[in-house]
Amino acid sequence: MTAPPLVLAMPGAQALAAGLAARIDGDCADVEVHDFPDGEHRVRVQAPLAARPVVIAAHLDRPDAKALPLLFTLDLVRELGATRVILAAPYLPYMRQDHRFQPGEAISSASFAAWLSGRLDGLVTVEPHLHRWPSLDAIFRIPTHAASATAAIAGWLRGQVARPVLVGPDEESEQWVARAAAALGAPHAVLRKHRSGDREVRVEGLDPAALAGHEPVLLDDMISTGSTVVEAASALRAAGAPARLCVCVHALFDAEAAARLAAAGLRVASCGTVPHASNAIDVTPAIADGLSALGLQAPCS
Ligand code: R5P
Repeated sequence: MTAPPLVLAMPGAQALAAGLAARIDGDCADVEVHDFPDGEHRVRVQAPLAARPVVIAAHLDRPDAKALPLLFTLDLVRELGATRVILAAPYLPYMRQDHRFQPGEAISSASFAAWLSGRLDGLVTVEPHLHRWPSLDAIFRIPTHAASATAAIAGWLRGQVARPVLVGPDEESEQWVARAAAALGAPHAVLRKHRSGDREVRVEGLDPAALAGHEPVLLDDMISTGSTVVEAASALRAAGAPARLCVCVHALFDAEAAARLAAAGLRVASCGTVPHASNAIDVTPAIADGLSALGLQAPCS
């Protein structure tokens, strides 16, 4: 009989680790990360893990300070005898840097994927920002599973809005918006976005006829500065169909952006891929299904 999986929580990912362990019949423990006064880190795992498959649960928003402790952990668990090392990172960072937009720019998504691929046997994430990359296979050399949040979003929305029309703020949001709308049995519309800076965004292409008789709900994969959905909300207001609700998968926004969103009349509901006050939709089951799809499950007794 093979050993049951051990789910290790990076700092801040204890709830995620516990939820996953319960669903794959494993148990969980913490990765202890000590911050030295000079800013360096030491990681420690006290749970016995030799000859066990290990899942590392990690929230990788604001990733740079988390990346080195993650690297040390991945190398550590391998060295301590884990049979497989799978990363469950509900938010996969750097995916928007999928192109050399200006000469000399790094394509960070490819670098980050190569870095992880060298240390992992598999990756599960949720709704990665696949825009110019057709799939995770384009940049990862390991088995990956991109879990969908759209069924969970549709299930949650069903209890919130009677006759929704889902509105995506830009072309790349079509993939999420169309799937969620299909799951909900609702219509959808997608706008066109022009970005000229981190916070400078313009949207166009709203067809008011597509909204008739429905309540618009904005949906995007992530909110960072809030500029994208605030501009989309403004276009909806100008068309006489103001949105009250905005759903996103990854809530990357800070308090300042939250205030802008509230000033635009938007209540935001996010999936729990990034711990955030707006979390309302649980995608842990979809992540656990992804782990099972990669062969991580409790052994048959
Ligand atoms: C980019 O295309 C993404 O799908 C989001 O629309 C974008 O990252 C949101 O960023 P912000 O909130 O800063 O406008």
